[in-house]
Amino acid sequence: EPTGITELLLSRIRDVADYPEPGVVFKDITPLLADPGAFAALTDALAEAAGRTGATKVVGLEARGFILGAPVALRAGLGFIPVRKAGKLPGATLSQAYDLEYGSAEIEVHAEDLTAGDRVLVVDDVLATGGTAEASLELIRRAGAEVAGLAVLMELGFLGGRARLEPALAGAPLEAL
Ligand code: PRP
Repeated sequence: EPTGITELLLSRIRDVADYPEPGVVFKDITPLLADPGAFAALTDALAEAAGRTGATKVVGLEARGFILGAPVALRAGLGFIPVRKAGKLPGATLSQAYDLEYGSAEIEVHAEDLTAGDRVLVVDDVLATGGTAEASLELIRRAGAEVAGLAVLMELGFLGGRARLEPALAGAPLEAL
């Protein structure tokens, strides 16, 4: 049985070869979510990160960022704000487009959910190229709010997301468990 939290979390993440396409190793967190002890340990660690940043709100990135961000927000006593893929939010939104390897994507947030004076922690499962997180930080700034930091379960270091995010983070912490 695993001893520390890193070992515990790693032991509950399943590598799936050639998914969703050949050559990609997908990091499947469903075994972690199905283990209440590991899920609680993850939630606690991310909520501690939220506390260290002085965040006043938690943003979760669709879809796995919702599963992790919502319990983190509750644990930290903060409101939860969903950043969704385009076309899913019914109210007035701010939108941010970003480039993918092929084509582009767009994410949105309800404009009324983020305002000046908010310090926002973004939570997600995986930092890969950093495109999604970068777009979310842009949304937060455009809403007039402040970026408190970014907290993720795992960072795929070989994809260079951390370096890409440096300008958008502007000194705010990036915590990868
Ligand atoms: C994954 C992951 C991050 C993002 C990371 O989400 O959960 O949000 O990709 O990739 P990036 O750093 O290269 O932007 P995905 O787009 O698969 O959405 P889903 O959770 O709704 O399946």
